[in-house]
Amino acid sequence: MRKTLVISGGTRGIGRAIVEEFASNGIDVAFTYNSNVDIANEMIADLTEKFGGKYKAYPLDILEPDSYKALFKEIDKDFQRVDYFISNAIISGRSVVGGFAPFMRLKPKGLMNIYTATVLSFIVGAQEAAKRIEKVGGGSIISLSSTGNLVHTPNYTGHGNSKAAVETVVKYAAHELGDMGIRVNAVSGGPIDTDALKKFPNYEEVKGEVVKRSPLSRMGESDDLSGICYFLSTDKASWITGQTFIVDGGTTFA
Ligand SMILES: NC(=O)c1ccc[n+]([C@@H]2O[C@H](COP(=O)([O-])OP(=O)(O)OC[C@H]3O[C@@H](n4cnc5c(N)ncnc54)[C@H](OP(=O)(O)O)[C@@H]3O)[C@@H](O)[C@H]2O)c1
Repeated sequence: MRKTLVISGGTRGIGRAIVEEFASNGIDVAFTYNSNVDIANEMIADLTEKFGGKYKAYPLDILEPDSYKALFKEIDKDFQRVDYFISNAIISGRSVVGGFAPFMRLKPKGLMNIYTATVLSFIVGAQEAAKRIEKVGGGSIISLSSTGNLVHTPNYTGHGNSKAAVETVVKYAAHELGDMGIRVNAVSGGPIDTDALKKFPNYEEVKGEVVKRSPLSRMGESDDLSGICYFLSTDKASWITGQTFIVDGGTTFA
């Protein structure tokens, strides 16, 4: 029987690349969008034509972590099983004001929004996914993380500390979900050329710096993270759990 991936934030950037990676490997996909329903619908038509599997998109707001409960109930109606969950979505724009800022301008509300959307949403999404993954005999949970918790990145205190928290949650979840046959890992990306990065006020500078720092002399692309997410979900990774994998084009040690 075909397996199913549930992923948040499938409409753009890294999430979209992951949806395509899993679909091209014969996995059905339930993915979420926040505002881009048109992109979601275009993707479904395109994926169905290319790969012939089952794909559905659902609205989700990661600023309301409990909305994952209703989301999974909807997914239960459409898909027979859940094998993999990837927490990928990220907030930007107005909700990160005071969170995405220089240290002296940080505000609790913006920081809490980032924590809620990044850490609390991951926890509630993973709990709902785990109940379903256990029923099919086990599977994999992944959260996207960022090397912004390892190297100083301007304005990134809020995201950086929340991603550090995500990596800690991954270790605890891996420890406690192993009995359910569930492996839990994080994939920590260096700067990747997506809409989220384009919102950085110093986007061009970051891009230039990445190309300079990377031994591979290029910027990271969304496809650079999708392959490892697929690998970690397969049986080839059956003894890998509780880990964070850094995929940064060699930029962190520079
Ligand atoms: N880009 C990087 O440099 C980089 C590096 C390392 C790790 N990462 C991580 O990779 C993940 C994806 O980042 P990205 O750069 O691909 O982001 P992105 O291009 O900005 O895409 C964000 C995705 O999240 C969805 N989203 C936005 N606000 C949301 C909300 N309130 N509730 C639910 N979903 C929402 C968007 O849906 P709509 O299209 O409907 O708005 C979209 O699908 C994040 O966890 C990020 O931290 C990124």
